[in-house]
Amino acid sequence: MSSIQQNNKRRILITSALPYANGSIHIGHMLEHIQTDIWTRFQKSRGHQCISVCADDTHGTPIMLRAQKEGISPEAFIAATQEEHIKDFEDFLVCYDNYHSTHSEENREFCELIYNRLNDSGHIAKRTITQLYDPEKQMFLPDRFVKGDCPICGSPDQYGDNCDNCSATYSPTELKNPKSAVSGATPINKDSEHYFFKLTDFEAMLKKWTRDGHIQEQIANKLDEWFETGLQQWDISRDAPYFGFEIPNAPNKYFYVWVDAPIGYMASFKNLCDKRDDLNFDDFWKTDSDAEVHHFIGKDIVYFHTLFWPAMLHGSGFRKPTKVHAHGFLTVDGKKMSKTKGTFIKARTYLKHLSPEYLRYYFMAKLNNRVEDFDLNLDDFVARINSDLVGKYINIASRCANFISKRFDGKLTQGISQHPLIKEFQQASDKIAQAYEDKQYSSAIRDIMALADKANQYIATEEPWVKIKDEATIKQVHEVSSVSLNLFRILTIYLKPAIPSIAKQVEAFLNVKPLTWQDAQNILQEHEINRFKPMVQRIERKHLDAMIEESREEAETANTPQLAEPLKPEIEFSDFDKLDLRIAKIVKAEHVEGAEKLLRLKLDLDGVIKQVFAGIKSAYQPEELEGKLTVMVANLKPRKMRFGLSEGMVLAAGPGGKELWILNPDDGAQPGMRVK
Ligand code: 2FM
Ligand code: ZN
Repeated sequence: MSSIQQNNKRRILITSALPYANGSIHIGHMLEHIQTDIWTRFQKSRGHQCISVCADDTHGTPIMLRAQKEGISPEAFIAATQEEHIKDFEDFLVCYDNYHSTHSEENREFCELIYNRLNDSGHIAKRTITQLYDPEKQMFLPDRFVKGDCPICGSPDQYGDNCDNCSATYSPTELKNPKSAVSGATPINKDSEHYFFKLTDFEAMLKKWTRDGHIQEQIANKLDEWFETGLQQWDISRDAPYFGFEIPNAPNKYFYVWVDAPIGYMASFKNLCDKRDDLNFDDFWKTDSDAEVHHFIGKDIVYFHTLFWPAMLHGSGFRKPTKVHAHGFLTVDGKKMSKTKGTFIKARTYLKHLSPEYLRYYFMAKLNNRVEDFDLNLDDFVARINSDLVGKYINIASRCANFISKRFDGKLTQGISQHPLIKEFQQASDKIAQAYEDKQYSSAIRDIMALADKANQYIATEEPWVKIKDEATIKQVHEVSSVSLNLFRILTIYLKPAIPSIAKQVEAFLNVKPLTWQDAQNILQEHEINRFKPMVQRIERKHLDAMIEESREEAETANTPQLAEPLKPEIEFSDFDKLDLRIAKIVKAEHVEGAEKLLRLKLDLDGVIKQVFAGIKSAYQPEELEGKLTVMVANLKPRKMRFGLSEGMVLAAGPGGKELWILNPDDGAQPGMRVK
């Protein structure tokens, strides 16, 4: 357990893992961002200089391909995602001092600087490797973009790095019958020179650093296994086309996304420093800095943050993180989040149904500092919010506030500063603060709720609702209510990092300035408060069920196969009804001089002849068409074309080129018939 510096003002930089810019924020992300935000708010309330930064992680092949698919530039794609992410975090009351992007000039500069320093010190190697290459799309294929038969068990449709069926891991070049997931083409083997970071140069430093209190013990034990297996050189380059930063003096070679992602922490902080006079980048990042740097991450990206990242920093003359805090994954009702079950819940979907502070509180109530998976149990969630927040915490204020407002002119009494309960609540401050500091949030909540129980017992014993009826005991009601509201105020201070918006409402009710941790040591006496308004509503299981149902529907819609060429906006039936579709007989078809694709058709609508220019030359010789039937839009306003007037449009189906089909005459269709 690290002990807290009480009086020294610490300088602390805090980060959460940078979310990929290719998807929405979901409640799994929120577990981490809320854990970080609670820690940040706690440190700020203690009076430390505390800065939290984040950014979108924007580079790499998946984002490049996704933007291509949507027909927009990667820059436009990541800008839209970033806007969505920022809004999601804000609405969850996750308050970063800066939210930047890895696709930024600051990040490019730091990537180049760090790389050049590593290269100059001999920590970069080059060698040629063979990888799968998509000859159609003309790009190397990342492991996840190759599918084929498992080389071990033969199971079909497996990714290029491991088999879902037998769990074997292998290299994509070993996959049988490989196919590119991008184009469907059969990949070929192709050589290319790659750049490697010599992680092995830092083995001794890393062995020491990982046992020096910077990471959780469980992680250090895991790292020992990796040290035993032996560290490998790390491939840090990717060939063009790639959405990222080009490596200096290496045309068409790009930094692998995992190089510039953690550097994005520095870039976001630098971006903030450039906006604020009170912050200096070097104060936080120089080797002998006494500021702290804390990274909050998920257990899946420990390798990057506890090996590559400290080694990159060390090798390029920057300080290493003070602590890397890893958490486990979020499960819902004991199972992995599932799209089909509706438990893969997007942040935005949650917010449509429930207040963000319920989830913040629930996460706080159950989080500890171990790398364990975290279960969001839906029934427990409902019970916890109703019993703790509504039944214990808010209840204290709602039981006493009206006595003060109605019988004592809204004013608290005096002479209560030595009340034993107030003393006890104040004395709990250090223990609760230590639990926050150690990220033992559940232990902090246990203590806070035990205090809330004591406050409620006190009110129950004193029975102010009975005493208020008797003039002889009415003074006691003033005291009980004033003590209770002071207890409520102290609990609010302890809970504020988790429930900042409720705390703000409490501050308005108590008529006080924003509360800080130290304020727990003061009390309110002879102080006028405002009328109490309910601040937290009870929740019911049906709210959660509606959220799960909506998540399930969203997943279903997302799984609906999408057309390569998206549909135009929907039209009304009345729009459709305007079309007069008729069967027409092609009585004459001829080439049009100077037109590459067009044929001139004379169409017989049962005696009425119309001239139409149709772009079907690639599929038919004119003479093949004569005598055939087609469907035509017969009431299309005639258009003057370069070659003459076109009085309608013929409808043909097919993929194009040689395959465009016109109807063969049959007994049922007659020229002039309306098509229904
Ligand atoms: O795993 C992820 O979601 C990554 N986008 C996290 C990057 S964290 C940091 F290194 F940028
Ligand atoms: Zn297999």
